[in-house]
Amino acid sequence: MKTNVGMGEESGREALYALDPACRDDRHRRWLLDVAMQSSGCLIAESGGSIVGYALLTHTFFGNAMIDILHVAESARRRGIGTRLVREAVRLSETPKIFTSTNESNIPMRALLAAEGFEHTGTIHNLDEGDPELVFFRYS
Ligand SMILES: CC(C)(COP(=O)(O)OP(=O)(O)OC[C@H]1O[C@@H](n2cnc3c(N)ncnc32)[C@H](O)[C@@H]1OP(=O)(O)O)[C@@H](O)C(=O)NCCC(=O)NCCS
Repeated sequence: MKTNVGMGEESGREALYALDPACRDDRHRRWLLDVAMQSSGCLIAESGGSIVGYALLTHTFFGNAMIDILHVAESARRRGIGTRLVREAVRLSETPKIFTSTNESNIPMRALLAAEGFEHTGTIHNLDEGDPELVFFRYS
């Protein structure tokens, strides 16, 4: 089935909340999503009329582009959708470098980032206990 990647619109907000289980309990995540939608930083992937993934692109990470969130519906994983969203974020990046981060334990995301040319550039401890946050970057 064909997947389209484009800008998220306010009308799709509830679908995004439903797609990402973290949105159900995490008000901050919902707030991030709302702000991204208002500032054209919410990328969505649609397939068969449904939203199957999204990424939030901001430009406030020490003045650099940052993929704040990347999430693909469980049922749609391993079909290249995460990669498409990351590539679109890189394309839309307004700075020469783009950053993102993930937990050390997140093997799928780390593999995706390595395949897309991101390099590990730093580690933040004390966010999730016992599972450091690894920061990655690449030139956009
Ligand atoms: C991480 C995530 C975004 C990947 O999305 P996806 O659409 O499944 O990724 P893709 O299909 O584009 O995969 C690209 C490559 O990443 C790697 N990869 C993806 N999922 C993997 C897995 N479960 N195990 C190992 N490698 C994996 C592979 O190298 C894959 O290429 P291949 O399928 O040709 O082998 C998705 O698993 C997800 O939404 N996870 C929950 C949220 C999350 O962890 N977000 C990222 C951190 S904030």
